[in-house]
Amino acid sequence: MKKLMMACALALSGLIPLSASAQTATPVVAAKSDALFQALGGKPGLQALMDGFVAGLKTDPRIGAQFKDTKSSFLASQLVDQVCAATGGPCQYDGPDMKTAHADMGITRAHFNALVEVLQAAMDARNIPFATQNQLLALLAPMHRDIITAK
Ligand code: HEM
Repeated sequence: MKKLMMACALALSGLIPLSASAQTATPVVAAKSDALFQALGGKPGLQALMDGFVAGLKTDPRIGAQFKDTKSSFLASQLVDQVCAATGGPCQYDGPDMKTAHADMGITRAHFNALVEVLQAAMDARNIPFATQNQLLALLAPMHRDIITAK
């Protein structure tokens, strides 16, 4: 009992940390490992991938029009932060959540599938192994629920 009280006192005084959930500075989502981030080539690899991806989006005949006013460097940088953070890398994504970011865009399943194909082509161009490609796609796929808003 004495020991427990001592632990509580130290925790309250800030000398030893409380459990992670009680700390305010703990990241909301902490990926267990950065293996996928590393497999994608770390930050430089992701930057090159997203530059190619956004260039592909702009020229794609199916969805290019939706990106005609997009500043490529801005979108690529947001995607780098988002994917870096989601794959365990040392980044923070400060942009809007996917529902907010894509509201009122009338995005269909066909649009979404086209974007996935453009991403696959960008990953192929960087010789990213198939298994790594699939891991990234598996991470992004559930976002369709927030992004597809039209039939
Ligand atoms: C898993 C799929 C997708 C992901 C991870 C994703 C991610 C993002 C991110 C991070 C942003 C930047 C938000 C901001 O900071 O303002 C963004 C913006 C945008 N997204 Fe997506 N997106 C996806 C699917 C799509 C699809 C299918 C379309 C349409 C074909 C689309 C069209 C756009 C457009 C037009 C913008 C605004 C770009 C600008 O002009 O700034 N996205 N998306």
